[in-house]
Amino acid sequence: MGLLFFLALLFGASCAQLTENFYDQTCPRLPNIVRQEVKRAIETDIRAGAKLIRFHFHDCFVQGCDGSVLLEDAPGIDSELNGQGNLGIQGLEIVDAIKAAVESECPGVVSCADVLALAAKQSVDVQGGPSWRVLFGRRDSRTANRTGADELPSPFETLEPLKKKFEAVGLDSTDLVALSGAHTFGRSRCMFFSGRFSNFNGTGQPDPTLDPAYRQELERGCTDGETRVNFDPTTPDTFDKNYYTNLQANRGLLTSDQVLFSTPGADTIEIVNRLGSREGTFFRQFRVSMIKMGNIRPLTGNQGEIRRNCRRVNELGGEAGHDVM
Ligand code: HEM
Repeated sequence: MGLLFFLALLFGASCAQLTENFYDQTCPRLPNIVRQEVKRAIETDIRAGAKLIRFHFHDCFVQGCDGSVLLEDAPGIDSELNGQGNLGIQGLEIVDAIKAAVESECPGVVSCADVLALAAKQSVDVQGGPSWRVLFGRRDSRTANRTGADELPSPFETLEPLKKKFEAVGLDSTDLVALSGAHTFGRSRCMFFSGRFSNFNGTGQPDPTLDPAYRQELERGCTDGETRVNFDPTTPDTFDKNYYTNLQANRGLLTSDQVLFSTPGADTIEIVNRLGSREGTFFRQFRVSMIKMGNIRPLTGNQGEIRRNCRRVNELGGEAGHDVM
């Protein structure tokens, strides 16, 4: 009985506050507004959706899904955008455009953290992936956590440290494999994987878990470290299960991708095989894991604020001053 009560408390504290209908009265057209803006962005930049879901991931992993990743340097704010894991991240202006469209119809109502969660969902949907019911009610932080952004999962990491970073935010091996499936679209700069081409980890040899023909293709494509290459060489801009079939063929782009399949004895191998076997299986798990990621330590109730401009906190003492806890 005591345990049940404790579990109820825990559950209540972690995710019960986010709800599907949070904006039904205050911004009923929110999904349409965001969808229209996401579609518009993708029409001019095929990578827009990939950029948006990555922002949501980087937001949630650093002090919870609270929009902190979007804050720029300011007095008292050491921007996460300067953290190791965010260097060179793109798409802030796309978030601005979506937020501006939302503000013009529902001023001061929808948080930047919720905008990211919804934009991530719409992006996957528009690119052919699954759809899920986004939960809302997150509020925006008035702080950033630069150190947290230095510690985001790294492309050079092996399986155990990756698993630990996911576990630290309540995500298990299945979530790690499913969410990594987002690398079915978007690009990566060569600097994050070119170390696999030769003298990998000081062995004098290329990474043995990188298919030689694919390696040569990548080497040809990588004119310098800043060049961007497709994550998925088969269907670069479509959200599908090919990420997993690529891993099975030693065609994962980053070390952090390939280790999911190539680490001897790992529990993730069977998960890669399962999610790669049928698109529906991947899509079902991706939905579950995205909702789980979106529930990481949100600010709710009267915590934080509803930022008007996602790049900075609202002025204290202004009309939003009462929002601050
Ligand atoms: C497992 C740990 C992960 C690592 C180490 C990792 C690392 C990276 C790196 C290095 C890039 C390329 C960045 C650049 O070139 O500037 C990238 C891009 C991307 N990541 Fe991840 N990632 C991880 C998990 C995730 C997750 C969980 C998601 C979403 C659910 C995600 C979505 C994306 C997308 C869509 C892109 C392409 C963005 C673009 O085209 O601009 N990643 N990731």
